[in-house]
Amino acid sequence: MTTQRVLTGITTSGTPHLGNYVGAVRPAVQASRSSGVQSFYFLADYHALIKTGDPARVQRSTLEIAATWLAAGLDPSKVLFYRQSDIPEIPELTWLLTCVCGKGLLNRAHAYKASVDKNTASGTEPDDGVTAGLFMYPVLMAADIIMFNAHRVPVGRDQIQHIEMARDMAASFNHLYGEHFTLPDAQIDDNVATLPGLDGRKMSKSYDNTIPLFAPRDQLKKLVMGLLTDSRAPGEAKDTEGSALFQIYQAFASPAEAETMRQAYANGIAWGEAKQMLFERLDAEIAPMRAAYEHYMAHPQEVEAILLAGAAKARAIATPFTHKLRHAVGLRSLASPTGQVQANGQATARGAASATVTKSSLPVFKQYRERDGLFYFKLQAADGTLMLQSTGFDAPKVCGAAIARLQAEGAGALTGLGQTLLPGVGPDALDAAMAALREAKS
Ligand code: TRP
Repeated sequence: MTTQRVLTGITTSGTPHLGNYVGAVRPAVQASRSSGVQSFYFLADYHALIKTGDPARVQRSTLEIAATWLAAGLDPSKVLFYRQSDIPEIPELTWLLTCVCGKGLLNRAHAYKASVDKNTASGTEPDDGVTAGLFMYPVLMAADIIMFNAHRVPVGRDQIQHIEMARDMAASFNHLYGEHFTLPDAQIDDNVATLPGLDGRKMSKSYDNTIPLFAPRDQLKKLVMGLLTDSRAPGEAKDTEGSALFQIYQAFASPAEAETMRQAYANGIAWGEAKQMLFERLDAEIAPMRAAYEHYMAHPQEVEAILLAGAAKARAIATPFTHKLRHAVGLRSLASPTGQVQANGQATARGAASATVTKSSLPVFKQYRERDGLFYFKLQAADGTLMLQSTGFDAPKVCGAAIARLQAEGAGALTGLGQTLLPGVGPDALDAAMAALREAKS
């Protein structure tokens, strides 16, 4: 089995809170320690620009989030930990994907639609206040993911649509230019708790009800003491169901500790006492990390160096891959043989036309079934360029027979089979490709 690549991004527009820690940081750091996976964690600072126009906030949040992940135990020597804006190949891929992404697909994105619906409801222009950045958000996110051919993307449910859109864009690109991208899957972990905030609603920056993960000890205590509870008096039995205090406690406690708290609720523990228990439990887990966090916050140059080293590792993958993608779409050196146009005006596919054809550089036929129920094949040159895209066949057998005939007869069989080569691919290139395949089989 190939190593599973797991990738996720964190938008650098806020300060990490307990909900981020329980829902994303802690499970990710744990997962990054398992074998057989290669983990990619990055600070999505280009995405942050879509949400905020405050430069100081973006910089501060980038440092806070990086320091948080490091303090939580992420080992940058075992994973790829980098900052999105250090990888210029990502905006470049964003453009390549922009050109294969249907505008209608983006029209259907939840976040964009929500803005339009809000405007429509209030009688303003549908796109009022909507930047092209918000509209393009899913394309940038797709580039983040498929640049590294991630198999799995751990995200919250609100992000599932974005992963599906990334799959769509990857598939469109593959269809047009050959199989370059792995189609990613969203990974939703149902065991991960969603924490309630100070007011009992989901802990979220947008509700202003968060407990910052690394609030100083006395501030943490004050916030915990302010947690919303019901008005039951000391001595009265209390409900764990729907209790924000209990849910937060449970997310940090062992099952045995949670059971003890459950008993204390039944026995009528005073809210003040329960809050004190929660505070002590939180602080026990956070205090050691807080020391590391404060160290990084005081030494931003250390964090900067770690991120730059991470970017170098990421670019060792992204730079050569981007060269391949540029070539695939036709952004090529005019001096390279593939880009050369022959005197008769027809381009040759490298590899297919070259005299020395090795096994690893052979053209390939790919057969597949489309949504229309018909069977198709495509022919890809050794360098990945698409040479021929067939018409639909009623049965796989007929499709297979067409491939066999093309292999045996080359360009001479095209008319009889009702097939045409893609623009820029000449019959000579096809003949050379078929000869290479026959030779490899003999
Ligand atoms: N959109 C994600 C969020 O708001 C952040 C993000 C950006 C991301 N690029 C990504 C997540 C790539 C996963 C993969 O949570």
